[in-house]
Amino acid sequence: MTAPAAPARSQAGPAPQDAFSRLQALVAEDMGRVNHLIATRMASEHAPRIPEITRHLVEAGGKRLRPILTLAAARLCGYEGEHHVLLAATVEFIHTATLLHDDVVDESAQRRGRPTANLLWDNKSSVLVGDFLFSRSFQLMVEADSLRVLAILADASAVIAEGEVMQLATANDLSTGEDAYLRMIHGKTAALFAAASEVGGVIAEAEESRIEALRAYGQALGMAFQIVDDLLDYGGSSAALGKNVGDDFREGKVTLPVLLAAAAAPDDAARDFWVRVIERREQGEDDLPHALELMRASGALAETEARARAYAEEARAALAPFPASPLREALADVVDFVVSRLN
Ligand code: IPE
Ligand code: IPE
Ligand code: MG
Ligand code: MG
Repeated sequence: MTAPAAPARSQAGPAPQDAFSRLQALVAEDMGRVNHLIATRMASEHAPRIPEITRHLVEAGGKRLRPILTLAAARLCGYEGEHHVLLAATVEFIHTATLLHDDVVDESAQRRGRPTANLLWDNKSSVLVGDFLFSRSFQLMVEADSLRVLAILADASAVIAEGEVMQLATANDLSTGEDAYLRMIHGKTAALFAAASEVGGVIAEAEESRIEALRAYGQALGMAFQIVDDLLDYGGSSAALGKNVGDDFREGKVTLPVLLAAAAAPDDAARDFWVRVIERREQGEDDLPHALELMRASGALAETEARARAYAEEARAALAPFPASPLREALADVVDFVVSRLN
């Protein structure tokens, strides 16, 4: 398939949402096949609850950002075969499984603008259907017939679970340092972005330096993505996100804005506030806006945003080994889309 030409860039650069639409358009045909494969493979002959729950989540949409990375990376490396579709579906299955599990762990009520499966059905169903989707993802990746790809995605699956478990240990603990936070978000989010991009290059048998560049791109993009997500849990809108804001605060998660604001607490009152709401989880109605105010006043919000932008730039720079093409430009501009969610 020849990629359609991208629209010309204006002097001011494209709007970030356009960058995402442009990338979507460049892989639209492949993504149609990925969606078809997902619909086929979520079926279960004997347990109708599996497709019911999966359909509830899959049909609600989602950005499909991770499978887009796999498709785009493979095409960027000149891949002409069929296996990238399998791998993109694998990546989205892994992501969907983690969402089902994550909403149980976080006791979340809304996902992709719909009530969560744990709310509509129950925790048991969410956990077990998540397990089914994880297993399905392994069946799919085996079909791609590459031990190296299998190793990358198996590693990523283990690291995601590790990141989610690390988060259990850092929640309600204000002594959590930045290193622990960064390791945790690498695990729960960036590892899958990195793997999604890398396997595209691997399946295309690209040069090692390009495979490494794709991995670095996904890794940095994933870090930016999760830091932005952590900021939006305080400053975003539930309607735009399709999930409830304030979930992290309610659970006492020690995310980057909390960690920075608590470290920069100007007085005992502020320090006591963070201990009460995050460590003891004693929260009243005015506490979320007060937390946001302390974050703003201490510079924690600005600093968190700066960190996200730095990772975004790192992602863009990682694409340097690739010659200019509409796909490379769209991947580079998607970093703006990720941070534009803050505007
Ligand atoms: C949600 O990811 C989980 C995080 C890593 C924050 P997305 O925001 O990519 O979820 P969907 O697939 O678009 O719903
Ligand atoms: C995102 O976790 C990572 C995974 C789902 C593995 P979060 O808990 O931060 O993401 P949201 O806010 O529920 O989407
Ligand atoms: Mg969650
Ligand atoms: Mg979570």
